[in-house]
Amino acid sequence: MISLVFALALSTLQETPIADEPAVAGEAVPEPQRDPVTGELPVDPYEMSNAHAGAAPFTGTGMRDAFHGEEGIRRVVDGMVDRAIVDPRISEVFVSHDLVRLRRALFEQFCHILNAGCDYTGRDMEASHRDLGLQVDDLNVLVENLQAAMASEKIGFAAQNRFLSKLAPMKRDVVTH
Ligand code: HEM
Repeated sequence: MISLVFALALSTLQETPIADEPAVAGEAVPEPQRDPVTGELPVDPYEMSNAHAGAAPFTGTGMRDAFHGEEGIRRVVDGMVDRAIVDPRISEVFVSHDLVRLRRALFEQFCHILNAGCDYTGRDMEASHRDLGLQVDDLNVLVENLQAAMASEKIGFAAQNRFLSKLAPMKRDVVTH
């Protein structure tokens, strides 16, 4: 009899719902939704500042013109990203990252540094790359991809090298391994 009462009490206890129970394994977790206008996935809030672009912009219009203005800069960014995501040496790093946001943020960054009239609204270089485990070889491959994109846009060598010198000091924030 005692054991029957005990068994009943135990079964009641087990059926009592637990407040704030975590999601049961296999239960659907809502997928993050892309913004219907920008096509980007949401990110955690952060402070926006042109200082996060990682380099002071050039002065004057020479570098903007050398890169063929906003249109040319967009082609260079897309050309670099298109090459990087299929380059077997680094393509894996880009898997499951929001490439819509990456292209937009890179465009703003390049456009801002080239003094072509953009503000940079992305995250700073340390925050953007801290979890990627990048090595100096990865950076060298991305620079190769950028050089190929600039060559394809027929940007003169002097302007290419001036731009690369602006990016070079960002190595300390991008390369963590
Ligand atoms: C000086 C070199 C570099 C510059 C200027 C640069 C610039 C940027 C910018 C502007 C962003 C977007 C930040 C944001 O979403 O707010 C970003 C993110 C990212 N970068 Fe770079 N990057 C550099 C090097 C690299 C390298 C070498 C790799 C890999 C080979 C890489 C892979 C990525 C990836 C995967 C993201 C997306 C991170 C995320 O989704 O949170 N970057 N980078």
